Amino acid sequence: MGEVIDFEQLDEHQQMEKVDEIIEAEKNTDGALMPILQRMQHTFGFLPEPALKRVAKQLNKSYSEIVGVVGFYSLFSTTPRGKHTIQVCLGTACYVRGGKSILEAISEYLGIGVGETTEDRMFTLEVARCFGACGLAPAITVDDNVHHRVKSTNIPEILERYREEEEEDT
Ligand code: FES
Repeated sequence: MGEVIDFEQLDEHQQMEKVDEIIEAEKNTDGALMPILQRMQHTFGFLPEPALKRVAKQLNKSYSEIVGVVGFYSLFSTTPRGKHTIQVCLGTACYVRGGKSILEAISEYLGIGVGETTEDRMFTLEVARCFGACGLAPAITVDDNVHHRVKSTNIPEILERYREEEEEDT
């Protein structure tokens, strides 16, 4: 998978050029809408509203039809994702050991709800059902890293490590 292009950094003309390129590449496939949306999600990391409007126009469909399809599939997202995805396990073992309060602590610390992204685009918060670390519950993942036996009080420390890494990289 190639680099995600930051849609909001492009000017309007560049945005539409890129969107048209995607539409053009898939428009002759059967049921072109799904492949177009998938390619767009990969390219931009989310499905921006102006891009969806353009797709509607180019495919001669109504915008509400497109929005309906997008809303139906959870793989599509209409808001930009954060650099890091946090998943809080709410499977049985983690739930019993306080997964829900971990979720609340993260949500409060970052000021976002489930499915949302922080304003600095650093984190997206999601919930999950068991990633096989039940013996070390409660567990959360940040990207591909599993953090075991998480305590609410450790949340800042865990998350700030990811922020610091970003700062070191820049
Ligand atoms: S229930 Fe959370 S890792 Fe299994």
